[in-house]
Amino acid sequence: MTTLRVHGLTVERGAGPVIRDVGFALEPGRITALVGPNGAGKTSLLEAVSGVVAPAAGSVHVGAVNVTRHSRVARARLGLAHIEQGRAVFPGLTVMENLRLTARTPDRLDAVLELFPELDKRRDSPAALLSGGEQQMVVLARAFAARPAFLLIDEMSLGLAPVVFTRLLPVVTRFAAEGAAILLVEQFTHLALGVAQEALVVSSGRVTYAGDAQTLLDSPATLHTAYLGS
Ligand SMILES: Nc1ncnc2c1ncn2[C@@H]1O[C@H](COP(=O)(O)OP(=O)(O)OP(=O)(O)O)[C@@H](O)[C@H]1O
Ligand SMILES: [Mg+2]
Repeated sequence: MTTLRVHGLTVERGAGPVIRDVGFALEPGRITALVGPNGAGKTSLLEAVSGVVAPAAGSVHVGAVNVTRHSRVARARLGLAHIEQGRAVFPGLTVMENLRLTARTPDRLDAVLELFPELDKRRDSPAALLSGGEQQMVVLARAFAARPAFLLIDEMSLGLAPVVFTRLLPVVTRFAAEGAAILLVEQFTHLALGVAQEALVVSSGRVTYAGDAQTLLDSPATLHTAYLGS
């Protein structure tokens, strides 16, 4: 099992840096919650890790392999997956067709459908006819089907009610229990911290807290200070 290590990452967009000198590690079987105010740079950070954008400085390693200059596809081959903010289903394809796009084996498809009985029932429905929450399940299930070692998830709660989102979280926990390292970006801070072991708070492009997730849940003052930046 390998670790993903990010060191001194800086991302520039237009006017200047939106991520400055950020470092962290993702360990197998662990969930890291990445939280912070709107515009803090969370999406930009994920994009630099997965290869959507090139960083201005710093490095990304998958195990011993320096992937900083690797394409997104090359990183995916090393087990790095990224569910982008606002990622949608293929509406004209059925649920099964959506999942078959990434599933490595039929066995894997069955295992994923077991995690989402709701989808199993709708396997032959066009994805466009599913509810917003069910569509988000398809997006998650499609990522799980590829069985990535590292999964970056950007705001899977977008447009969903908290009650729908809470249905998705245990599945993320199950996937981590299979050995995946997960970086979970979320607007529902407390829900994300509740399923995570590690927490990373980013404010104005800098890490303002890195450490135990439970500690942040137990100390609203620490969380508040981290959000404001130091
Ligand atoms: N394509 C782009 N071109 C120029 N600036 C951008 C681009 N994308 C993002 N930015 C800027 O970079 C900064 C960080 O944005 P980013 O989307 O990474 O933040 P975020 O933490 O994901 O915010 P949110 O919580 O709203 O999703 C913002 O100031 C934003 O305006
Ligand atoms: Mg974002």
